Amino acid sequence: MNVVQKISLKNFRCHDEFELDCNRPTTLIIGENGSGKTSVLEAIYLALRGKSFKGIDREIMKREQDFYRAEIDLIDAQKIIIRFDGVKKSFEIDGKKSLRLPKKNRYPVVLFEPDDIYLVGSSPSRRRDYFDELFKQINENYSLALGKYNKALKQRNDLLKQENVSRDDLFSWNIMCANYGAKVIHWRVQNLAKINEKMTEVYRNIANNNDECGIKYIGLECDESQYLQHLEQNYERDRILGYTSFGVHRDDYEFRFNGEKADGSASRGENRSMILALKFIEARILEQEVGKAPVVLLDDIFSELDEMRQKHLIANFKDYQMIITSTTVPSDMRVNAEL
Ligand SMILES: Nc1ncnc2c1ncn2[C@@H]1O[C@H](COP(=O)(O)OP(=O)(O)OP(=O)(O)O)[C@@H](O)[C@H]1O
Ligand SMILES: [Mg+2]
Repeated sequence: MNVVQKISLKNFRCHDEFELDCNRPTTLIIGENGSGKTSVLEAIYLALRGKSFKGIDREIMKREQDFYRAEIDLIDAQKIIIRFDGVKKSFEIDGKKSLRLPKKNRYPVVLFEPDDIYLVGSSPSRRRDYFDELFKQINENYSLALGKYNKALKQRNDLLKQENVSRDDLFSWNIMCANYGAKVIHWRVQNLAKINEKMTEVYRNIANNNDECGIKYIGLECDESQYLQHLEQNYERDRILGYTSFGVHRDDYEFRFNGEKADGSASRGENRSMILALKFIEARILEQEVGKAPVVLLDDIFSELDEMRQKHLIANFKDYQMIITSTTVPSDMRVNAEL
């Protein structure tokens, strides 16, 4: 049964009014560049996760309008109405209003964007953001710890920008950073282990060979007291730099291929297959950990993949609701909406 059943949008990005029935397991939205395909996925994501993956409400609201509205019918006759009046956003679920989307009403999402194809060789911050978003969906505690860590880090960095900041001034923020930072490391390492358990097997299934791959955490895997020690040891350095040089906000993820760093050794096709494997694993882990089947949003990625990988994509996500956008009609697929 599909999670997302129907969407109606008003003043949402370029859409004055837009309606779409998603009552088939796979929904295909076709349109030229700039016709509003990604915006439709953005609205779905907003209804499932409570926030957009690409912008803030003011950017989403159609230019020269003073509100937007998105109404999404979900499984079990659940209706979510999202309204933004130019200042405030509200969610209404089956008649009950709230400022945030309640956790129990959230659904996991696997979002696949063209940029993801280049994750292996992209910047550390891009990879951090990528895995942060995934791990936030998997563990609520990760989301909480990361939020608190970022707040503490900001305070610590603000202090470091001031002249004559002392060790004592930093102490309470060191404690907070160490406490939440160690939790962030714990969840990252744990989630990565779950991904790595499946990575080679899923990859081999796509590539049909005996290659090995995985993802390695690049950062100090330390506990709270070691974390605190590092922060304290780095006091002089951080004071001169004016920011916190050690911590989970600087860690990275390295894709490994046959025992080497994939970036620079694996081929373009091998990198793509690794990302596909990662996406398939994401869906399975989300389903296991969250206990709800994820909705798969594929934004214009067919053009990035050859026919073999397109087939794998469809086959591996066949148990989930898929909503796909494309500029051209992929072979053997039925179009549900044309923009
Ligand atoms: N707030 C807004 N008001 C009006 N138009 C907007 C707003 N925000 C974005 N747009 C426009 O909406 C259009 C649709 O954007 P969207 O990214 O959804 O298109 P798309 O079909 O995914 O395009 P592409 O194929 O290039 O990815 C773009 O032309 C963009 O400039
Ligand atoms: Mg787009």
